[in-house]
Amino acid sequence: MIEASACAKFILFGEHAAVYGYPVIALPLSTMRARAELSPAELGSGLRITSEDLGQSWILTDLESVPSSPLLCLAYRLIQQAGLQHVPDVHVRITSDIPVASGLGSGASVSVAVARVLLKYLNLQFSLSQLNAFIYEIERFYHGNPSGVDNTVIVYEQPVCFVRGLGIRLVDFPLSQFVVINSGISASTMAAVSHVRTGYLQFGLGSVVSHIGLLLSSFLSAFASLDVAQLGRLMLEHHVLLQSVGVSHEVLDRIVFLLLESGVSGVKLSGGGQGGNLVASCSLSVKAQLESVASFAGST
Ligand code: MEV
Repeated sequence: MIEASACAKFILFGEHAAVYGYPVIALPLSTMRARAELSPAELGSGLRITSEDLGQSWILTDLESVPSSPLLCLAYRLIQQAGLQHVPDVHVRITSDIPVASGLGSGASVSVAVARVLLKYLNLQFSLSQLNAFIYEIERFYHGNPSGVDNTVIVYEQPVCFVRGLGIRLVDFPLSQFVVINSGISASTMAAVSHVRTGYLQFGLGSVVSHIGLLLSSFLSAFASLDVAQLGRLMLEHHVLLQSVGVSHEVLDRIVFLLLESGVSGVKLSGGGQGGNLVASCSLSVKAQLESVASFAGST
């Protein structure tokens, strides 16, 4: 059996503006993972991918046309790249502890884990940058117009400062200062990105998007000078800007309010929004209150 895995991620700063070419900071969540296991299957059965968690399975039996399902398309392209004339008889089993539709990169993480087992099986060598470019193409199936930050942070599994079209800079962040809260409300990143696009194109929200983009340099200076109060203010300002482009949610806003009351220095939604997760900057001394607020609000 061949095994591989990939991490979850969260966006610290710059989501949505990232789609329009502004820098975004994203971090890996290495303890939450999607896993893929590849084992040989019965002769003539083709390539089968199953996800027990989702209760779904996909089968590729021939190479005549490009399949429409993203995961089969991924397999199809790798088989083509390996120069095989037929589909190998294998079973790829996916398991994941990343909640689906929560803004934690579940789709990209599954794609990376599946690509990694197939690369090993097909004996193909991809650099991280090649794997990243390959997964970006698959991500476009899921998200339409992604900036590429999700696949990048998941493939490299390191904190990144990413600019669409320009690539990445690896950054060093003290992870212990942040807590990620999953609101438990599922949301589609694709829908949120397309909602912002409509506002951007038709309702003049470009200035809000550029305001988000421009906050990043202040955020980085606050980080460099360890100015926790300023970091917190900037996170909140970012949340309010995201709220004004219509990607917050009443439950997210309620959690933000409760957490600020309980003493966190900053909190904002993280990722696509309209549900999904939030990120809070806090000292360990308020972590216990934070957990009780989050569980009170029905989140984890
Ligand atoms: C999603 O994790 C981040 C967004 O900015 C979309 C993207 O950059 O592709 C909302």
